[in-house]
Amino acid sequence: MCGIIGYSGSENAAERIVSGLKSLEYRGYDSAGIAAFEENKVRIIKTVGRVSALEHRIDECGGIRSGCGIGHTRWATHGAPNDINSHPQVSGRVVLVHNGIIENYHELKTELISQGVSFVSETDTEVAAAVIDSEYNKAGDPLKAILAAMPKLTGSYAFGILFKDVPGVIYSVKKGSPLIVGVTDNGGFISSDTSAILRYTKKYISLENGEIAVIKGASTEVYNSRGESVKKEILTAKWDAAAAEKGGYSHFMLKEIHEEPEAVKKTLGIRNRHGYIDFEDDGITVEQLKNINFLRIVACGTAMHAGLYAKYAIEKMARIPVIVEVASEFRYSDPILSDKDTVLIISQSGETADSLEALRIAKSKGARTIAVVNVIASSIAREADNVIYTYAGPEISVASTKAYTVQVATLCAFAFELAYSKGRLTEQDLMYYSKIILHDLCEAIEKVISDEERIRGIAQELYDNENVFFIGRSLDCALVQEASLKLKEISYIHSEAYAAGELKHGTISLITNGTPVISLATVPEIYEKTMSNIVEVVTRGGKAFVVCGSDFPDNSAILYRYELPEIDRMFMGLVGITAMQLFAYYMSVLRGNDVDKPRNLAKSVTVE
Ligand code: AGP
Ligand code: GLU
Repeated sequence: MCGIIGYSGSENAAERIVSGLKSLEYRGYDSAGIAAFEENKVRIIKTVGRVSALEHRIDECGGIRSGCGIGHTRWATHGAPNDINSHPQVSGRVVLVHNGIIENYHELKTELISQGVSFVSETDTEVAAAVIDSEYNKAGDPLKAILAAMPKLTGSYAFGILFKDVPGVIYSVKKGSPLIVGVTDNGGFISSDTSAILRYTKKYISLENGEIAVIKGASTEVYNSRGESVKKEILTAKWDAAAAEKGGYSHFMLKEIHEEPEAVKKTLGIRNRHGYIDFEDDGITVEQLKNINFLRIVACGTAMHAGLYAKYAIEKMARIPVIVEVASEFRYSDPILSDKDTVLIISQSGETADSLEALRIAKSKGARTIAVVNVIASSIAREADNVIYTYAGPEISVASTKAYTVQVATLCAFAFELAYSKGRLTEQDLMYYSKIILHDLCEAIEKVISDEERIRGIAQELYDNENVFFIGRSLDCALVQEASLKLKEISYIHSEAYAAGELKHGTISLITNGTPVISLATVPEIYEKTMSNIVEVVTRGGKAFVVCGSDFPDNSAILYRYELPEIDRMFMGLVGITAMQLFAYYMSVLRGNDVDKPRNLAKSVTVE
C-alpha cells in the first residue's frame, strides 16, 4: 500500500514529512525515507524499519533544514524490505517515491539496461524513476518528461517526484493509487490521504487519474494527461486525524472489506499477462504444476478456511486429491511426506508460528513447499520453495477480511492453472475465469458492499442472540466455517458452522425457539437438500435466514432471504462471504465491541 507525502513552502518540510509519515504508517511500515532540498542540493535519508527509525537516522545526521521534500513509508511488493529498496528511489536527476505497482517494470528495465542505464535496487519504483529521467534527458522539461513517461508505465502509481536541478518544486502524478494535494497559505502538500496533513490543513484537492500536480510553495498547478492546466475545486476534509487514518471509516475492518475489489485486482492484475492469470513470475510453471498429483494445504484460522475453498476448487477443476489441515495438528501428526509431495502453506502475516513450523517439517521430509503470503519477505515467504504474494495491502484489523478474499481468488486462479496443466482446461477457459475474477467478482463484491445498510438491518434483528448457527453443503459448507469464525471472534456470540446434512446427527438438539440459523445456498444441484435442512430447523423453532442465489426456491419457512449477485457459481459463495463479513462487523458494532482489536486475540499469532 505504501504512504507518500511531500511539502513545499516556507515552513519546516522535514518536520511535516516525518509527522505525515507517522500518520501514514498504517499503510505500510517495511521502511521509510525522505528526500529534501538543502541549499539547492537533494539530501536523501532512508532506512529499513519504522518511521521512528528514520526519525532517529535524521537526528544522527544532524537534522534536515529544508522547505521542500518528499517522504515515503513502504509496504514492499517488489524487492525485499531493506535500505537499498527503500524509497525515495533515484535515477539520474529524478528522485521519486511511489505507491502502487509498475506491472511492466521487467520489460522496461531490460530495455533501459540495454541503453546503458544501471540499477541498484530490485524495485519497480526505480524503473519508473529511470523512465522519467530518460524522458527528462530528451525533453529538458520536468512536466513534459512526466507526460512522455506516463503512457509507458502500465499499472498503478501515485508518485512524488523531485528533479535535482529544479529546487523547491514537487511534481506528483496519480494513476490508480490515491493522491491528494494539501493547500495552506504557507505551502502545499502531497499525500496518499488526508490523515497525514490534517494537523496542518483540512483544505485539499483530490487528484483524478492521469492528473499531475506541481507544487511550488503556496502555489499549486494541476495539469491533465494532455498537459493542459485544469482548475480544481478545493475540498474540506470532514474527519479528524484519528478517523482519517481509517480513510473516514469507523473501523479498519470496514475499510478493509471495502478494499477487497482493489486488493483482488492488485494481486491478480499483475499476473494477467497473456489475457489469463498465471504464476510464471512466481516461479511456478505449468510443467511443475503438471507433476502435482496430490496436495496438502496447511494453515490456521481464516487462512485454513481459504484452504477449504481451494480444496473444493482444485478437486473440482483439476481432479487431484487435496487434504486441508490446521497447522497446529499437522505439525504433531508426523505427516507422511516425501519428495513427491507438495505442501501449500497459506498465511496473511507470514509469521504464524504453527504454520511456519509446519512449513519447516514439510521441508524436512523433502516435500516441495509453496506459500501464499500477504507480507513480503516474512518468515514463511522466505523459507518456502515458492511464494505467491497477495497484494491485499496491510491488514490492520485483527479479523481477516480482504486477505481471505484475495487468498481465495488467488487459490481459485491457482486451481484453474493446475487444471490447465492437466489438460482439463484450455487457454480459452483460463481467459474466461481470469475475466470472471478480475471483473465479475470485483463487481459482485462492490454490489454486496453497496447493500451494507440492508445487511446492517439483519444484524439489528439478531445482535442480541447468544447463539447463531451457520449451515451449508459442499462449497457452501467450507464457506460457512469462515462466516462463523468472523462472527465469533468479533461479536463474542457463540456460533457453529455445520454441514447442513450433519445437523440432524446431533447438533439439531441445540436448536430451540428463536435460534437463528443462517444458510448459505449457492450450489443449485443441492438446493433441495439444503431446503429440507432449513425446514427441519424451522420445525424445531429455529429462525431461518438464507444467503443464496436468486434461483434458490422460495419457502414460507424462510424468515429472511438475501439474494447474491449472479456470477459463475465457483465464486458466488465467496461474494456471500463479503456479506457475512459485513454481518459479523455490524453484529460486533451493535454489541459495542472493539471491532478492530477483539478481546484475547492478536493479529499475528507468533506463539504456539
Ligand atoms: C482471522 O480472522 C483470525 N484472526 C485468525 O484466525 C488468522 O486467520 C490466523 O491466526 C492465521 O493468521 P495468518 O493468516 O497470518 O497465518
Ligand atoms: N511497488 C513499490 C515497492 O515495492 C511500492 C509498493 C506499494 O505501493 O505497496 O516498493
